[in-house]
Amino acid sequence: MNIVILAAGMGKRMQSALPKVLHPLAGKPLLEHVIDTARTLAPTSLCVVYGHGGDTVPARFTSPDLQFALQEPQLGTGHAVLQAMPHATDDVPTLILYGDVPLTTSATLQRLLDCAGKDKLGILTVTLDQPDGYGRIVREDGKIVAIVEHKDATATQRSIHEVNTGIIVAPTRQLKQWLATLSNNNVQGEYYLTDIIAKAVADGMEIVSAQPDTVAETLGVNSKVQLAELERVHQHRVAHALLEQGVTLLDPARLDVRGTLRCGKDVSIDVNCVFEGEVELADGVSIGAHCVIANARIGQNTVIKPFSHIQDASVGASAQIGPYARLRPGTVLEDAVHIGNFVEIKNSRIAAGSKANHLAYIGDATIGERVNIGAGVITCNYDGVNKSRTEIEDDAFIGSDTQLIAPVRVGKGATIGAGTTLTRDAPAGTLTLSRAKQMSLPNWVRPVKIKKPE
Ligand code: UD1
Ligand code: CA
Repeated sequence: MNIVILAAGMGKRMQSALPKVLHPLAGKPLLEHVIDTARTLAPTSLCVVYGHGGDTVPARFTSPDLQFALQEPQLGTGHAVLQAMPHATDDVPTLILYGDVPLTTSATLQRLLDCAGKDKLGILTVTLDQPDGYGRIVREDGKIVAIVEHKDATATQRSIHEVNTGIIVAPTRQLKQWLATLSNNNVQGEYYLTDIIAKAVADGMEIVSAQPDTVAETLGVNSKVQLAELERVHQHRVAHALLEQGVTLLDPARLDVRGTLRCGKDVSIDVNCVFEGEVELADGVSIGAHCVIANARIGQNTVIKPFSHIQDASVGASAQIGPYARLRPGTVLEDAVHIGNFVEIKNSRIAAGSKANHLAYIGDATIGERVNIGAGVITCNYDGVNKSRTEIEDDAFIGSDTQLIAPVRVGKGATIGAGTTLTRDAPAGTLTLSRAKQMSLPNWVRPVKIKKPE
């Protein structure tokens, strides 16, 4: 089929300079949700109708499978679909979606496509307790004969609770003809897409309908209130799917996944964690409360303790991270590494069994196995202009409060005394320290406070 996504509307009620369809839901623009769903249906052509907000919309999506049609000015939904018709192939039907309706599932759309087939017009409808504002589905002897917009409807028509979701599929050749003959002779002075229904009926075409699994699938975003509501619906869906799959969520209402979270068996996630981008948690991983994890892989049986922040990093198996750890981009931790509180690691590799348990900065470093990094150790990787690397070989012991002035290397099994400022390489198997000699001054007197004259 051809798919047309309408995304030209203004979205005034968002109270924002950003075009409505670019506002993120679960970290991804509303329109991208719709595009991603559309792609699952493998369309022949995929065209987004844009207008308000100008080129910012097409500029955000530069995929070769996407076409864009400018609708300027915006004269109604029928006029919007018409702009996309040059991109639509006649011999397959055209499905119309909306850039601000993000949660429609592929399964629902497939159901609509299946019932419409190649030569019927299909409408996705829902029955609402409060149908105000929606186009009403008018049936005669059970058959759909028209859609009447709320503003144009009679009192009797307004009492109809079955409404148009806007999602429609139609045979393309006829659709093009109907759109070309629309008029804007209605209360809103717009070219209504919905007027094609009566035209199809007049042409003797059969009109069919399908219903979504949930109403939320058909809800559009017009305000930040609605955006927040749909965000919760989406997060609830994600949490529900994880629970079904066997993940323990201590509170499914306090989980935010903005991307893809893949979990192995017996994974447990405590409250208020945020997952962004692509995150993979292997079997037996436990994530403490209040962690933010983005684009990361966490190995089997690793424990991430509360308040840890992990971004563009990978952690091996049986590791212990946090509480309050920060793993920045380019961090690779191998198995059984322990990273404790207030330790920041960037662009560094730490091999199996090594530990940095308290208050350290490790940047641009390569650290071997079974290394112990004492409290307060800092790799001085930046001289104000260039970044340099620190290398620490297996079994080294770095005493507390050591500064490693990079580039510098600590040999295998070396010990660095506490408080050392290491400016040259430390040989393997030896104690290196740069500590000043300790002195005590027996005649020294502590200063006393000088009294101010009154
Ligand atoms: C439309 C339907 C109505 C349905 C309702 C469901 C029509 C005439 N009416 O009404 O039957 O119940 O959706 O929400 O189709 N758009 C453009 N260009 C335009 C006008 C609209 O791209 O010129 C886009 C908007 O950005 C929006 C969508 O089309 O995403 C719907 O437009 P809107 O004006 O909100 O239609 P409704 O009046 O809600
Ligand atoms: Ca609307």
